[in-house]
Amino acid sequence: MERLQKILAQAGIASRRKCEDLIVAGKVEVNGEVVTTLGTKADPDQDIITVSGRPIRNEKKVYLVMNKPKGVITSASDPEGRKIVSDYLRDIKERVYPVGRLDYDTEGLLLLTNDGEFANLLTHPKHHVPKTYMATVKGVPHGTELDKLKQGIMLDDGMTAPADVEYKDIDTAKNEATISITIHEGRNRQVRRMFEAISHPVIKLKRISFGELLLQNLKRGLFRHLTKNEVEDLIKLAKSPKLPKK
Ligand code: URA
Repeated sequence: MERLQKILAQAGIASRRKCEDLIVAGKVEVNGEVVTTLGTKADPDQDIITVSGRPIRNEKKVYLVMNKPKGVITSASDPEGRKIVSDYLRDIKERVYPVGRLDYDTEGLLLLTNDGEFANLLTHPKHHVPKTYMATVKGVPHGTELDKLKQGIMLDDGMTAPADVEYKDIDTAKNEATISITIHEGRNRQVRRMFEAISHPVIKLKRISFGELLLQNLKRGLFRHLTKNEVEDLIKLAKSPKLPKK
């Protein structure tokens, strides 16, 4: 038996907080009876639970890590007919969705799940889960320019939190640099906008880690299931948020 708001959140209905609102608003029924008391418990395997008359899905929880290729969109569908991540997940019968997004042109580590609560926990801005990217940028940024990214830089939606930034490679012939950057937020196109703000636009972007989970040698376009330990470690990390010092 579990609390109803937890069952609803895990089924991907909404965050636990919003599910509580749905319960109080009288939208949730268990075995045909409206339940408005928070804390009521139910058994997702035995009870018929509906939200606004629709039964919730009670699927097995699935947690995947995928190496998203560039040129693939993280949405569930694309009106322009571009490739979507589910094209790569044909063997998975549960309906999973990405934990946060990666741009069409960004490749690398993408988590996917049907556990709404897990997804909310990892993407909530206040949990500051670190994500590391390898960014190849135009020109070779000066150390003082990278310091700006380390300290936090003003973007049109506000200051970024301090980031960890390190040179990885400098190609003087091509006039490019590869830099690893770890951010603790997940704003739209954040890494690209940070480098644009120091006038070194991103040429190539790849996410190589999410929390302590590394992409390692997972081949482009392939995925694997996370182990139970990996799922638990990600949850633990999100629940003990830490921001780096400036
Ligand atoms: N930052 C970006 O700019 N793009 C991504 O896909 C992820 C982070």
